[in-house]
Amino acid sequence: MITEPAPAKLNLALHVRARRSDGYHELDTLFTFVTDGDRLTAEPADSWRLRITGPFAAGLDAADDNLITRAARAFTAEFGVVIDLAVTLEKHLPIASGVGGGSADAAAMLRILARLHGIGRDDPRLIRIAEALGSDVPVCLAGVTALAQGRGEQLTPIAGLSGTPVLLANPRAPVSTAAVYAGWDEVDRGPLPEGDALAITRDGRNDLQPPALTLAPVIADVLAGLAEDGTAKVVRMSGSGATCFALFEDAAARDRVAAKLGRDHPVWWLLPTTLA
Ligand code: C5P
Repeated sequence: MITEPAPAKLNLALHVRARRSDGYHELDTLFTFVTDGDRLTAEPADSWRLRITGPFAAGLDAADDNLITRAARAFTAEFGVVIDLAVTLEKHLPIASGVGGGSADAAAMLRILARLHGIGRDDPRLIRIAEALGSDVPVCLAGVTALAQGRGEQLTPIAGLSGTPVLLANPRAPVSTAAVYAGWDEVDRGPLPEGDALAITRDGRNDLQPPALTLAPVIADVLAGLAEDGTAKVVRMSGSGATCFALFEDAAARDRVAAKLGRDHPVWWLLPTTLA
C-alpha cells in the first residue's frame, strides 16, 4: 500500500496582472503549503477503483470526471501503463475553497504513479500532465514554496516560512473560481513586492479578495474574525476563496483565535496548522 499526502495550498499573495484571450488570467503569486490536508492511499486491485472517505466526502463523487481519475487516465495515455489500483481519497479539505484540494489530490495521484513506475517528479511529461489538469496542479506536484507566473504554472521555488503557525478558516460557502476571476476589475495593481517570502506576504495582496467578497460577503466576517484579537501577523484570503488564513508568531495565539472562532461560528471550518 502506498500513501501520499495532499496538503492544502495557500496563496500567500496573489496579484492578478491581466486577463488573457484564452480565458485565464496572468498571475504573480506566492504559493506555499501547510502540513495538513487530504490523503491518498493506493493498493493493487483487479481494476481502477476510487473511493472517497473523510469529512468532506459527501461533496464529491468518485465518478469519471474526478480530477484523480483524470490524472490517472492522463498518466495511462502518456506512459502506456495499465493502472490497476484501488485508490482511497480521505477528503479533509473543503471543496471549491481556494486551498487547491482537488489539485492537491490530482498531484498526489501523479506522485503515486510516478513512484510506482520509476518516473521522476520533475519529468517534463509528468509536468505537462499536471499543467493540463489545472493551473494549481504543477505547484501541488512540486509541493514546494514557489513564486509563480503565467496562469500559475511557471514556478520559481523560494525559501518559505516553514514552521509558522497558521489558522485556516472557511465559512462553508463554496465560491466558483471562474466567477471570482470574472469579477476582477481588470486593474493591474502591480507585481509582487521584492524580498523574501515574509516581505512578499506582508506587503502583498490578494486581488481576488474584492470580487470574492462581492460574491460571498461572509468572507468579510472571516477576515475580521481572524484579525479580531490583533495577534495575527497577516490575514488574507487564499486563491479565489472563500478560505482565509492568518499567520501567527506562536501556536498559542493561533489556538486562542481558533477556539474563539469555533465558539462564535460553530458552522465554520477551521484548521489550526503550520506552514510546511
Ligand atoms: O486551471 P483551473 O482549471 O484550476 O482554473 C479554473 C478556472 O479559474 C478557469 O476556468 C478560469 O476561469 C480561472 N482561472 C483564471 N486564471 C488563472 C487560473 C484560473 O482565470 N490563472
